[in-house]
Amino acid sequence: MSDTLLKGKRGIIFGALDEQSIAWQVAEKCHQHGASFVLSNAPVALRMGQIQSLGEKVNASVIAADATNMDDLEALFQKSVDTLGGKIDFILHSIGMGINVRKNKPYTDLNYDWLQKSLDISAISFHRIMQTALKKDMLADGASILALSYIAAQRVFPDYSEMAEAKALLESFARSFGYHLGAQKGIRVNTISQSPTKTTAGSGIKGFDDFFDYADKMSPLGNASADSCADFCVAMFSDLTRMITMQNLYHDGGFSSMGMNPAVLPEL
Ligand SMILES: NC(=O)c1ccc[n+]([C@@H]2O[C@H](COP(=O)([O-])OP(=O)(O)OC[C@H]3O[C@@H](n4cnc5c(N)ncnc54)[C@H](O)[C@@H]3O)[C@@H](O)[C@H]2O)c1
Repeated sequence: MSDTLLKGKRGIIFGALDEQSIAWQVAEKCHQHGASFVLSNAPVALRMGQIQSLGEKVNASVIAADATNMDDLEALFQKSVDTLGGKIDFILHSIGMGINVRKNKPYTDLNYDWLQKSLDISAISFHRIMQTALKKDMLADGASILALSYIAAQRVFPDYSEMAEAKALLESFARSFGYHLGAQKGIRVNTISQSPTKTTAGSGIKGFDDFFDYADKMSPLGNASADSCADFCVAMFSDLTRMITMQNLYHDGGFSSMGMNPAVLPEL
């Protein structure tokens, strides 16, 4: 495969916290494919995580921004365009946080303040990012914008709780904003619906390990890794996928098309 798929492209990658993070893997692959980009995460993640070492490895500036704060986002876009020397060609939204999930509050007893915060961090932030970039005219024509989703947006996975609603909203924003950005500037917006992946956010879901194994057995190709997700993101940022927009794309080893897999039966 060519290692110059993203040569000359400028991007912003949100959500690399540690080496397990999907965004971390995406950053490494984008670097290998010749892109230049800025890394961003919440101020607390810059203090607690290892993102600075990633920045050094992939030659990227690290800029703090709470993705629910419009002032932070405006400053981030301005600094990114100044640092990278031009408009933005690709964005990865790899941000998620379920406050009720974290605090073990059951789905039938949600705290609504926490729910609103979860929706803001995990979904509305995607709209905030696109709106900020559009208003400041900082997206290059033909840019590619991605967010990471999960199949609980379409099917019931009880322990995923409020995050199911967050992902449904996220995917809807991709379609709705995808229309406006496509019609105005030829920009595409998609979500990738990823397999369960062992990361900080993933492991926060109750029963994650059992569910990871179940999905792995159900999927003819097994679970898609963060590394393969990063390959897919590179393809989606490249010009080879320039006519794909407003889609939710399953990257799950076939899980979403399965009804029953005999491989799972001996476990019952
Ligand atoms: N791990 C999985 O099983 C899985 C499966 C499908 C989709 N996803 C999605 O992939 C994305 C990345 O998650 P991950 O699994 O790599 O875990 P992760 O914990 O490494 O990444 C989540 C990121 O969100 C960031 N974040 C939280 N609040 C923020 C805020 N206010 N502003 C800016 N950033 C904030 C965190 O700092 C962290 O870097 C999430 O949207 C997640 O829902 C994960």
